[in-house]
Amino acid sequence: MTKTILRGRVLSFHRAPQDIGDTESYLYLEDGAVTLENGKVIAVGDYASAETTGAEVVDHRPHLIMSGFIDLHVHYVQSHIMAAYAGSLLEWLNTYTFIEEQKFSQQGHAAAVAVDFYDALIRHGTTTAVAYCSSHPRSVDAFFAEGEKRNMLMVGGKVMMDRNAPEALCDTAQSGYDDSKALIAKWHGRGRGQYAISPRFAITSTPAQLEAAQALVAEHPECYVQTHLSENDEEIRFSMELYPASKDYTGIYEDYGLLGRKTLLGHSIHLNHRETSVLAETASVAVFCPTSNLFLGSGLFDRERLLANGVRIGIASDIGGGTSMSMLRTLDEGYKILQLRKQRFNPLSSFHLATRGNAEALGLEDKIGSIAPGRDADLVVLDSGATPTMQMRQGTVTSLVEELFLLQTMGDDRSIVEVYVAGTATKSTLAGL
Ligand code: GUN
Ligand code: ZN
Repeated sequence: MTKTILRGRVLSFHRAPQDIGDTESYLYLEDGAVTLENGKVIAVGDYASAETTGAEVVDHRPHLIMSGFIDLHVHYVQSHIMAAYAGSLLEWLNTYTFIEEQKFSQQGHAAAVAVDFYDALIRHGTTTAVAYCSSHPRSVDAFFAEGEKRNMLMVGGKVMMDRNAPEALCDTAQSGYDDSKALIAKWHGRGRGQYAISPRFAITSTPAQLEAAQALVAEHPECYVQTHLSENDEEIRFSMELYPASKDYTGIYEDYGLLGRKTLLGHSIHLNHRETSVLAETASVAVFCPTSNLFLGSGLFDRERLLANGVRIGIASDIGGGTSMSMLRTLDEGYKILQLRKQRFNPLSSFHLATRGNAEALGLEDKIGSIAPGRDADLVVLDSGATPTMQMRQGTVTSLVEELFLLQTMGDDRSIVEVYVAGTATKSTLAGL
């Protein structure tokens, strides 16, 4: 395979920035070269010192080359019901979501939505996502098959749910276990695919099903675990009614051995002190889903309290409760939630979180989330002057931090100039951009 050099401004994080002046936390090259070969980054440095002989040079100047965005929590099966008019979580689930997900019993539907979903990810600059499929195994087949076709590093799993939902969507403790087990054997580690054991949340799983999930986790420590935690007051109340012996909502998952380094807990908003300590002790990840939390009126994620208590954090769109596939839009809404909490979310921290931070949450920081020799060549090229209005503001931008803030505040899929997946230019090949 030939070498490709991407020329442009390059930004990549080494670690979480401590503050807005923490220039040691990242690499920034004004005229940089990212050299790609066989799907990997093989060199990064100033363009002037790049080995250009025999390489194809793609000139992305004056745009910014970053690691592709990572979305830590998204329901691909809800791609077609974003922007559904509902008051709050449980009404939204019962009125729209559980109806829509029933369509995934049909292979043709699952395959078609998977194509739409992956196209949308690419349009928005997201190169890795952690997804919930529906309870139907064929929805998982469609998800991983499409990811494999596109050579993307994707994580996903069959939702396990055996109560408090329409009959047609419910599995049983046994079938949920058997189907998940077979899907792990089929898809985990195939191509770039990784499996997430996915009990939907406490409300839709009987104790017998959480026991089955516990058995899967014990048998497959190589897999991720994903579920929802403490999103909405009514959800918390109902969960505690269903699991009266557990100390609190987090205690339910703790009691069934579902917490750990590979566990991703969507929302994690209304947590008491004990719950926060348990998340920290188990190294579980609290996943901030800002557009969803605002849209469903769920509450304000407390980033500072979680970080101060040593909880690992990630960020995600939570489509279809979320309202945009764009991680730029997600960062913007995250910023506004934290403003309401009187917390600052500086642009270095937010871009770090959507790239290297989320990669660290997955334990995949040696593969994705930053630009360095040996990393997978999953990259995004960003234009901070993508619209006339952005161009108006661009004229007064004087620093990288200001530019990042402009991108997250005003940017969306129009700011995504190109996306590379394992070294291959992908956005430009989509039909009907
Ligand atoms: N809790 C359980 N299922 C869901 C879901 O599909 N979306 C959101 N936002 N919360 C949930
Ligand atoms: Zn969700």
